[in-house]
Amino acid sequence: MTNPKLEIQSIRKQIEDHNYRYYILNDPIISDGEYDSLFRTLESLEQKYPDFVSIDSPTQRVGNKPLNSFGTLAHRIPMLSLANAMNQDELKAFYNRIMKQLDNKSIFTFVGEPKLDGIGVEVVYENGQFIHGSTRGDGYTGEDISLNLKTIGAIPLILRNHKLPPPKLLEVRGEVFISKSDFKQLNSIREKDEDPPFANPRNAAAGSLRQLDPKLTAKRPLSVYFYEAGMIDGHTFDSHLEFLTVLNKWGLPTNPYINECLDLDSLIQYHEKMESIRNEIPYEIDGTVFKIDHYPTRGILGTRSRSPRWAIAGKFQAQQATTVIHEIDVQVGRTGALTPVAKLEPVFVGGVTVTNATLHNQDEIDRKDVRIGDTVIIERAGDVIPKIVKVVSEKRNKDSYPFIIPKQCPVCGHEANRFGDDVVIRCTNLSCMAQLKGHIEHFVSKLALNIDGFGEKIVDQLVDKSIIKNIDDIFSLSVDIVANLDRMGEKSAKNLIEAIASSKQTTFARFIYALGIRNVGEHISKVLEKYFLGDLDLFQKTTQEELENIDEIGPIVAETIIQFWSDHDNISMVTHCMELGVSFEKIQLPEHQPLKDTTFVFTGSFDQFTRVEAKNMVQKLGGKATGSVSKKTNYVIAGPGAGSKREKAESLNIPILTEEEFLLLVKSF
Ligand code: IVH
Repeated sequence: MTNPKLEIQSIRKQIEDHNYRYYILNDPIISDGEYDSLFRTLESLEQKYPDFVSIDSPTQRVGNKPLNSFGTLAHRIPMLSLANAMNQDELKAFYNRIMKQLDNKSIFTFVGEPKLDGIGVEVVYENGQFIHGSTRGDGYTGEDISLNLKTIGAIPLILRNHKLPPPKLLEVRGEVFISKSDFKQLNSIREKDEDPPFANPRNAAAGSLRQLDPKLTAKRPLSVYFYEAGMIDGHTFDSHLEFLTVLNKWGLPTNPYINECLDLDSLIQYHEKMESIRNEIPYEIDGTVFKIDHYPTRGILGTRSRSPRWAIAGKFQAQQATTVIHEIDVQVGRTGALTPVAKLEPVFVGGVTVTNATLHNQDEIDRKDVRIGDTVIIERAGDVIPKIVKVVSEKRNKDSYPFIIPKQCPVCGHEANRFGDDVVIRCTNLSCMAQLKGHIEHFVSKLALNIDGFGEKIVDQLVDKSIIKNIDDIFSLSVDIVANLDRMGEKSAKNLIEAIASSKQTTFARFIYALGIRNVGEHISKVLEKYFLGDLDLFQKTTQEELENIDEIGPIVAETIIQFWSDHDNISMVTHCMELGVSFEKIQLPEHQPLKDTTFVFTGSFDQFTRVEAKNMVQKLGGKATGSVSKKTNYVIAGPGAGSKREKAESLNIPILTEEEFLLLVKSF
């Protein structure tokens, strides 16, 4: 195709069609890779012909600029909530009320829907174009989260024109949520990145929609189902089922479990069915919703101030139960976290028998005053590990006794510590069996040594068979050993060993990141690389004070680094890696090096540059900036507030420069 405008339009249409097949028909006909490549073609065409970029192009889903705050959007029709039916009797009462209100005259049927446990939103389309979207807020006004909603692939930017063209105005309401499996994956990534995990999928969805930077929202696996109308101008529907069918045709996803319910019995049946399959559904639901199908009948029934008379939410039985704690075990996770787990008298709750419940950490045990022998109420929320809600204090047994998490790792016996404000106690031994798998996975991961083909299954086998006892054992693996693992052939074994060998030529920053020192992520590793200029020896011998003097490194990061190097096992593991051939790319020093072998210390505050900028200026000229004053220091640059370092420089007769003098010196080269 030679006309770029037509080509761009054609690719956009193809992408929209593929979205429709994927999100609505559940029947994609191309692979993710093919879809990505189509997307990239569109991106590059639009880059070449920027005049043809339009706001509803699929490339425009992720905005560039973060917001300072969310604006507000009024709902033209209030977003009401639902009255609850807590049990069958209340569901019957709802049905009878409606019958009475309709004078036993009209025939009425219902639509049964799962009650999705996510975040209610409203999206507004004008002539089929996404205009904006908002949260429910107080029902009358919500937050303008348009930019974040646009990042969700399942929300079309343009509605499909499927025989029935989209109306002039369509306000459509639905629930944004994160599936159970996406939630697990999201939390495991967060754990790896040392971000606090979300408590449940609902919180994860809420947190994701409330990001001021839409780029961050775009990274979250958000899904959506639409289930109600706001204001519609340009088309009238007779019934809810008809509305939902047309939504689908326009490209708006609706829930596949929605069903027509003709009478009270079928309401009850639908509710029971949904409750019984609740755990098999790939996302969290916390009940059912029953709505009158026929719109004019809804109009007769009307609404109360906060909820419509024509709908009700059927609540599921609380997934709680009472049981007894027989014991408290301590489990060690892949990050070394010691987690207390209550061993319970088995109890049937929410469709499964529960024998364990997490107690999270010592603070939680103390706050809830949980003791071994106590009778407790436990709760199960979907796939989340059951937790202890509270102790039934009236039933406290006189023999019950408190529990304190030991200071030793129960797996390797190594010391376990709490760092800074962290509520979690962690085993500090990198080679602890329980942690080893996690550490290896991190060590070989993309941003670390990036060893291709070193998947979780291989790690598990190598550790379980005690072939790898320490991280450095990775470098002693041979083709023979690897080829003997399950599902490993000679060829893939060879590839893996080659990948391991070539990973040895790495960078200081990657290696430091690979060590998985707590709080030392990808960025801090780069900060350390810049400061220590790839000198592992200097890094190993650093002090808390020196580290704290490095810009962007605070006392907690400094403490964990010092703790890491104070452990002999860690030192010998790192030394062994170097002996086995790990080496770092040379840090490129500038050619013009008038400050070679010159060491600076910056102390106090400065007006014209930050510490990082000052350090960069020095490094660009071949010099070095360190944190503490010693005989080796050549200049101390002192700003207001300089204290002991200035005194030390004076006592050692080291020249002390002001901020201005330093700038003059730097500019003189
Ligand atoms: S209909 C007037 N349908 O439940 C009816 N709501 O308590 C308005 N929800 O804020 C809502 N699944 O966020 C409806 N299938 C469903 C739903 C559902 C979940 C949420 C929604 C609403 C809350 C009402």
